[in-house]
Amino acid sequence: MEIRKVGVVGAGTMGSGIAQVAAQIGCQVVMRDIEDAFVDRGMKSIDRFLSKSVEKGKIASDEKEAILGRIKGTTDMSELKDSDFVVEAVIEDMELKKQVFKELDSLCKPEVVIASNTSSMSITEIAAATKRSEKICGMHFFNPVPLMRLVEIIRGYSTSDETISTATDLAKKMGKVTVEVKKDSPGFIVNRIMIPHMLEAIRIVEEGIASIEDVDTAVKNGLNYPMGPFELMDLTGVDVAYFVTEYFYKELNKESKWVSPNLLKTMIRANRLGRKTGAGWYEYNK
Ligand SMILES: NC(=O)c1ccc[n+]([C@@H]2O[C@H](COP(=O)([O-])OP(=O)(O)OC[C@H]3O[C@@H](n4cnc5c(N)ncnc54)[C@H](O)[C@@H]3O)[C@@H](O)[C@H]2O)c1
Repeated sequence: MEIRKVGVVGAGTMGSGIAQVAAQIGCQVVMRDIEDAFVDRGMKSIDRFLSKSVEKGKIASDEKEAILGRIKGTTDMSELKDSDFVVEAVIEDMELKKQVFKELDSLCKPEVVIASNTSSMSITEIAAATKRSEKICGMHFFNPVPLMRLVEIIRGYSTSDETISTATDLAKKMGKVTVEVKKDSPGFIVNRIMIPHMLEAIRIVEEGIASIEDVDTAVKNGLNYPMGPFELMDLTGVDVAYFVTEYFYKELNKESKWVSPNLLKTMIRANRLGRKTGAGWYEYNK
């Protein structure tokens, strides 16, 4: 089936990026969130990103308008019913994801693949909320979606080969590099590697070994990473790092290495969630 219309559930950091890259390859896109304000915020962030691309001479301004013209923001889930492919990008909460998948399952055409952009959670468990578990897979984009090249394609217990190749082909069409995660396991590849690195960075600061700035400087200059762990958490969401850590603890045998440092919990309680709240490990509103 040719994918002409893509449905995106969630207009946040990731949903808006996914909607943009789908529209850039010529698909019609419907992006749904629960409140008009969230839909508007998502549309504005796409507009901002595309305006920068125009300024840099990467795209023409009429191309920008054409891309924006292919994206329809809505709060009405039923507008996704004639989608040819759907990506879910709501917050990292299993019960919410199951509820969204159940709703999508009853709404979408039976042949449609529904992918979750979860950073860590079980595709098998999400798929079990539907009657089309062979059509459910993980499609893990990275932040910022239009710039980051990787997409992890994740197989749940019942995911068919056809579903994997449909999602892989779509990601490749979007210009992405894909890897297949053959077994449904918490955090897949990248987050299984990245979360311990973030937790160790927080513990180093908590133990008074070095400052936030110096940990970031050390990682950038000593490991040649483009961003330090604190800068990266502020970009991707301190809450996302926390949710993923809590999930790892629950799913990976409650090993002590996955216990959230107190400092991470304090950041969540202080609502210092990163760039999106104006402050995280660093201040952004000054
Ligand atoms: N932020 C990252 O760097 C990153 C990277 C890869 C994957 N992810 C994953 O992507 C997903 C989304 O993360 P995010 O950072 O975009 O979160 P976000 O908080 O920026 O956006 C989530 C959006 O989902 C909306 N939402 C909640 N319930 C909804 C519903 N029933 N229908 C439609 N929209 C609903 C919220 O209003 C919010 O706008 C999560 O599963 C996260 O783990 C995040």
